[in-house]
Amino acid sequence: MKFFIDTANLDQIREAQALGVLDGVTTNPSLMAKEGITGKENIINHYKAICEIVDGDVSAEVIATDFEGIVEEGEALAKLHPQIVVKVPMIREGVKALKYFSTKGIKTNCTLVFSAGQALLAAKAGATYVSPFIGRLDDISTDGLGLIQEIRLVYDNYGFDTQILAASIRHTMHIMDCAKIGADVMTGPLSAIDGLLKHPLTDIGLEKFLADYKKGN
Ligand code: E4P
Repeated sequence: MKFFIDTANLDQIREAQALGVLDGVTTNPSLMAKEGITGKENIINHYKAICEIVDGDVSAEVIATDFEGIVEEGEALAKLHPQIVVKVPMIREGVKALKYFSTKGIKTNCTLVFSAGQALLAAKAGATYVSPFIGRLDDISTDGLGLIQEIRLVYDNYGFDTQILAASIRHTMHIMDCAKIGADVMTGPLSAIDGLLKHPLTDIGLEKFLADYKKGN
């Protein structure tokens, strides 16, 4: 399972990278705005800065919603750095653009996916990643993890190469549940990754080992 961090915060990206388990980064316009990164040039420089920190794929989202605009913006983003993956919304024009990018060998992440039907379309169009937003579904009392299960089934039925990127992860159990279902990738906050580390018996056990070592030395 690949681990992506879902943030535009460079310190958090560095911290996750330093842990040695980071495979990539996802961003979106809201995450950029949260860090105070606004304006085309600043956003582009920020993508480049992220690519310098991590070794893996970095999703950069298009703003255009028409086919020509998405293609123009996506091609420019893809030229920024070999690690850039063009993030395209699940809309009619987006699906056309996914197909176009796949024929050009440009990696894509189809975002804002909320149904297995949308995920099927994204795979048919040749998306590299599909991003079902599980937290946002849970927020409206709809089963986010159930969606990951459905997409896994559909993709396995036909051997689609599109990777399931479980997005809108809110906490550590989301990561574990997605891992059990077989999501290819998860993207979440640093706090959710950190949660995997913690167990009180580890802390108690280590404390005793260190205390016992001191007794004999
Ligand atoms: C995915 O790529 C999105 O950036 C993200 O996971 C959205 O998460 P949210 O629902 O916490 O905003």
